[in-house]
Amino acid sequence: MLGILSTVIMALISVAATCPASPCECLDNVTVSCPDKRLKKFPNLPDGTEELYMAHNLIQAFPTSGLEQLQFLDLTKNRLNVSLTSNFIWPNMSSLVKLFLRGNCLGSLGPGQLQGLSALTFLDLSENHMEALHPGSLQGLGQLKTLILTLNQINSLQYGALSGAPALTDLHLSSNSIVEFEEGVFENSSKLVKLILSKNNLVSIGNGTFRGAVNLSHLDLSGNKFDFVPIAALRDVSQLHSLYLQKNSITFIPEDAFSELSHLRILVLNNNCLSKIAEDSLSGLFHLGQLDLSYNNLKSLPSEVFQYLGRLELLDLYHNNLTYLPEDLFHNLTRLRELQLDSNKISSIPPGLFHMMPKLRELQLANNQISDLHKALFSSLRSLRKLYLDNNVLSKIPRGLFHKTKSLRELQLDNNHLRSLARSLFHGLTKLHFLKLFNNRLTAIHPEQFSTLGELRELLLNENLIEDLPKGVFSKLRSLKILDLNNNRLTALASTDFDGLGALKELNLSFNQLHDLPYATFYSLDDLRRLLLQNNRLVSLHPQVFSPLVDLQELDLDNNQIKLLHPDVFQGLHHLQKLHLKSNRLSTLVNGTLEPLESLKILHLEGNPWDCSCRSPILYINNWIINNNQKLQDKPMCSSINRPISQPANLLKPCVSVACCPRSKFPLEMLTVLTAWLLGIGFL
Ligand SMILES: *[C@@H]1O[C@H](CO)[C@@H](O)[C@H](O)[C@H]1NC(C)=O
Ligand SMILES: *[C@@H]1O[C@H](CO)[C@@H](O)[C@H](O)[C@H]1NC(C)=O
Ligand SMILES: *[C@@H]1O[C@H](CO)[C@@H](O)[C@H](O)[C@H]1NC(C)=O
Ligand SMILES: *[C@@H]1O[C@H](CO)[C@@H](O)[C@H](O)[C@H]1NC(C)=O
Ligand SMILES: *[C@@H]1O[C@H](CO)[C@@H](O)[C@H](O)[C@H]1NC(C)=O
Ligand SMILES: *[C@@H]1O[C@H](CO)[C@@H](O)[C@H](O)[C@H]1NC(C)=O
Ligand SMILES: *[C@@H]1O[C@H](CO)[C@@H](O)[C@H](O)[C@H]1NC(C)=O
Ligand SMILES: *[C@@H]1O[C@H](CO)[C@@H](O)[C@H](O)[C@H]1NC(C)=O
Ligand SMILES: *[C@@H]1O[C@H](CO)[C@@H](O)[C@H](O)[C@H]1NC(C)=O
Ligand SMILES: *[C@@H]1O[C@H](CO)[C@@H](O)[C@H](O)[C@H]1NC(C)=O
Repeated sequence: MLGILSTVIMALISVAATCPASPCECLDNVTVSCPDKRLKKFPNLPDGTEELYMAHNLIQAFPTSGLEQLQFLDLTKNRLNVSLTSNFIWPNMSSLVKLFLRGNCLGSLGPGQLQGLSALTFLDLSENHMEALHPGSLQGLGQLKTLILTLNQINSLQYGALSGAPALTDLHLSSNSIVEFEEGVFENSSKLVKLILSKNNLVSIGNGTFRGAVNLSHLDLSGNKFDFVPIAALRDVSQLHSLYLQKNSITFIPEDAFSELSHLRILVLNNNCLSKIAEDSLSGLFHLGQLDLSYNNLKSLPSEVFQYLGRLELLDLYHNNLTYLPEDLFHNLTRLRELQLDSNKISSIPPGLFHMMPKLRELQLANNQISDLHKALFSSLRSLRKLYLDNNVLSKIPRGLFHKTKSLRELQLDNNHLRSLARSLFHGLTKLHFLKLFNNRLTAIHPEQFSTLGELRELLLNENLIEDLPKGVFSKLRSLKILDLNNNRLTALASTDFDGLGALKELNLSFNQLHDLPYATFYSLDDLRRLLLQNNRLVSLHPQVFSPLVDLQELDLDNNQIKLLHPDVFQGLHHLQKLHLKSNRLSTLVNGTLEPLESLKILHLEGNPWDCSCRSPILYINNWIINNNQKLQDKPMCSSINRPISQPANLLKPCVSVACCPRSKFPLEMLTVLTAWLLGIGFL
């Protein structure tokens, strides 16, 4: 016993000898980790430690020595508050490569203070209290590549602030209070590639500011206070690939604004106040691939404005005030792949507008005031996959409009004023997956309307005025998964209406006027998961009408007029999880009706005139509820007495009084009711 104990103690001591840094963990022989341990001081590091992870502690100061071999030090979110402008000398960390000091209380750096960190390549000083980056404060950081100063209070960058760090490639100054740069501050920053100046208070940038930053490729000036493009300053950064100017107050782009930036690939100008763009304002941007002008106030565009952008792939004009587009506006954009024109005020479109865009894959025209489309409008868009025309005022669509757009996958025509559709309108769209036609004024559909859409997955016809379904209208839709017919005027269905829909998962027939379902209505729908029949006028249900739906998970019959359910009506629905029977005319359920529903989790029974009087076999549902209490989601009430039917049976007086309700009477009585009912629907 004593032997074992001493072995354990010896083992503990030997561990402690190599890793004396409790409560820290030594992950391997070079890594010590103690994040979030409320430490106030640095642990004693085992010899040879190269990486130290100490985020989220209470460290206030560095030790004077012992960090010489560290290469990686994470002090994110500590309490380091050394006033770095004083004569504080940092400990010798001559091996350190990466240093994380985000979220401390550091004031500004003094000249030469980081001198000893000669191997440092990465320094994160974000979320501190720095008010300036004084000249010389990066002295000695000859290897520094990335400097992160995001979320401080720096208000200007003086000449010399970056001297000493000639290898800098990434400089992050987002979310400070910078109002100005001294001229020449980047004159030795020839390696600088990425400069992030978003969310500052810049109003302008002086002519010579970027002189020397010859390799700058990514410049983010978003979220400042520019009311014009700093054209003169940008002349010095001709290597620029991406320029972000969104969220400023720019009102106008003058001629040749970017003409020196012939390498620019991405130009982002959204969320400004642009109401005008000069004809030649985008001249010289021969390599531009993306142009974002969304969320401005553009009312018109000069017809030649995009003529130089022969390489443009993405043009975003979303959410402007455009009413009309000149016919040749896009004629040089032969490589365009995406065009967003939604949420403008476009009312008519010249027939040739999209004629030179063989590569266009996505065209957004939703949320405009388009009332009319020329039949040849899309005739060159052979690559088009997504076309959005929803939320316009289209009342008809010319025959042949989609005959050449054979690559279409997604077509949105919902929320228009369509009354009818040409028989062949969608013919040839063999790759279409999604077709949205809801909230129109369609009254009838041609039997051949969807006959070539073998790949269609989703067909939304809800919120129209459809009165009946022509024979076989869906029969070719073998891939259809969702069919929505809610809020139409269907009064009856034929037993063949859904033939062929073997892949259907969801069928929404709610808010129609159906009073009857032929017993074979759903016979092809082996795969159906949700069947929504609420808010119709169903009075009875054939005992076999749901029996093919072996995978059904949800059945909604709320708000109908069902009086009686045949005890076999849920037979086979072994996977049903949700059953809605609210607001019908049920007074009772026959003993055993709910037994097939072995997966049921949610049941609604409220709003029915449950009969708790002596003559009714209310005991079945009463018992079922008591045994399956957590499944019932509402509080069905007895119609005559003001009591929930789910009360314990002995409280459901006077029903359970033995004298009053001899049990032997139930089956006989039930049989009479059922026979009458079955005769009623002509079943016997
Ligand atoms: C750490 O262990 C590895 C082998 O696991 C060894 O190669 C390396 O030299 C050790 N480093 C130190 C500093 O002890
Ligand atoms: C740092 O914080 C400690 C404790 O809050 C305080 O006593 C000390 O004066 C602070 N040092 C500086 C330089 O602000
Ligand atoms: C820092 O430590 C390293 C390694 O221990 C040593 O070579 C170097 O001279 C020290 N630098 C200073 C300024 O003390
Ligand atoms: C750039 O380097 C030159 C020569 O070393 C020096 O005179 C000048 O002050 C430096 N400029 C900046 C902004 O550091
Ligand atoms: C500019 O960057 C490229 C690669 O990003 C590099 O090859 C080139 O040497 C850099 N030029 C200068 C002047 O640093
Ligand atoms: C900046 O340069 C432009 C022409 O390149 C000149 O018109 C303007 O006066 C200059 N602005 C300043 C402040 O030097
Ligand atoms: C469009 O212009 C009208 C006035 O013509 C203005 O009220 C509205 O705010 C503008 N919309 C946008 C998105 O700029
Ligand atoms: C634009 O395209 C037209 C022909 O469609 C051509 O004549 C013109 O030169 C092009 N413009 C530019 C700037 O490439
Ligand atoms: C079915 O139609 C109803 C009635 O409009 C609607 O509330 C519901 O979201 C639709 N359900 C599905 C799954 O489409
Ligand atoms: C319901 O039927 C079962 C057998 O199928 C029987 O044991 C039970 O007593 C019946 N319940 C009522 C309330 O009649």
